[in-house]
Amino acid sequence: MNQRLQSQISQKFKELYSSAPKSFSAPGRINIIGEHTDYNEGFVLPAAIDKRIYFAVGVNEVKKHRFYSYDFMQSEESADLLVTEKTKHWAKYLIGVLAQFENLNLYFDVVFGGDIPAGAGLSSSAALESGMAVAVNEFLKAGKSKFELVKMAQKAEHDYAGVLCGIMDQYASVFGKENQVIKLDCRTNTHEYFPLDLKDYELLLVDTKVKHSLASSEYNLRRQECERAVAYYQQKYAEVKSLRDLKLEQLELNQPDEISYKRSKYMVEEIRRVNLATKALEMGDLDSLGTLLYQTHEGLQHLYQVSCPELDFLVDQSRDMDAVLGARMMGGGFGGCTLNLIKRDAIENFKSSIKTNYEKQFHQSPDFYLVKIENGAN
Ligand code: GLA
Repeated sequence: MNQRLQSQISQKFKELYSSAPKSFSAPGRINIIGEHTDYNEGFVLPAAIDKRIYFAVGVNEVKKHRFYSYDFMQSEESADLLVTEKTKHWAKYLIGVLAQFENLNLYFDVVFGGDIPAGAGLSSSAALESGMAVAVNEFLKAGKSKFELVKMAQKAEHDYAGVLCGIMDQYASVFGKENQVIKLDCRTNTHEYFPLDLKDYELLLVDTKVKHSLASSEYNLRRQECERAVAYYQQKYAEVKSLRDLKLEQLELNQPDEISYKRSKYMVEEIRRVNLATKALEMGDLDSLGTLLYQTHEGLQHLYQVSCPELDFLVDQSRDMDAVLGARMMGGGFGGCTLNLIKRDAIENFKSSIKTNYEKQFHQSPDFYLVKIENGAN
């Protein structure tokens, strides 16, 4: 929790709306492993992090919703919750959530801001949606379950941002728990927590600062390609309802088009890796966990064809460093961060050498975030 930021946001609310708000916050997320498996009904292993969006929320009598972004220093208003071309990008997420509440008989004032770097693949938009959903649920006494709030947050992303994301980011933002990773089954939408004991290792993110403008269309395309693969295998095996159901033998016995084959192979392997990773975590076997991270990176590069030279460069650099047990691109993967499992006492050296090499290659400095695992939205 960044108490200072939370109180700055509340202060701003008082200045703008001359009343006392209630405070809420929702975190960004990392994902240890299980990338792009969520929309294939597979498993993922995310966790909420110590970077959050903070909200100050109240109700008003002026019969319109008023929003203020502390970071962008911009405001937006809406009486009817209709999104137009003029609606600010960030406001769409808030409106997208609000518009889903039935019997919305209150008008809200919302000030928000946070320390989740935007566009770094840490799901700041999921935090925005999830935090808003939790806040409105509380004010309206709507009695929605946590999972219903997750679904509303995800729907806002689909309908208002046009990214056909899976459930992982919003789920992690709502269900996150301190020092635990979430093993989420994206078919049953149920989870188990696993303690994250990294001994003398840490999770360090390196931010490429690359924000690919094509990311959402590439993401949606991968999703379609998986659906095409399912349609192919379903003709042969009625029980294959999603790539989660595909067996290695079924994969190897058939010859769909090359894209369907590659995407399916990645998915079968990645779902297996999530299960291996939870076993490795339970056994405290960090070497194996690290190896799995590298395998995921290669799988994403070659079979899932999620490519970004900056991410590949960072992962390659880490291979020469004994202190790093594993590294991979994280999240959607068309930019954003790498996740590095690194020995604590080597972090400073790692940062300075990565910084030098990255700057030489790309003429831009990476950012580093040492993450801690925190509680979800509240
Ligand atoms: C984005 C999406 C998630 C998930 C990841 C890839 O973060 O929002 O649903 O698909 O990419 O694992």
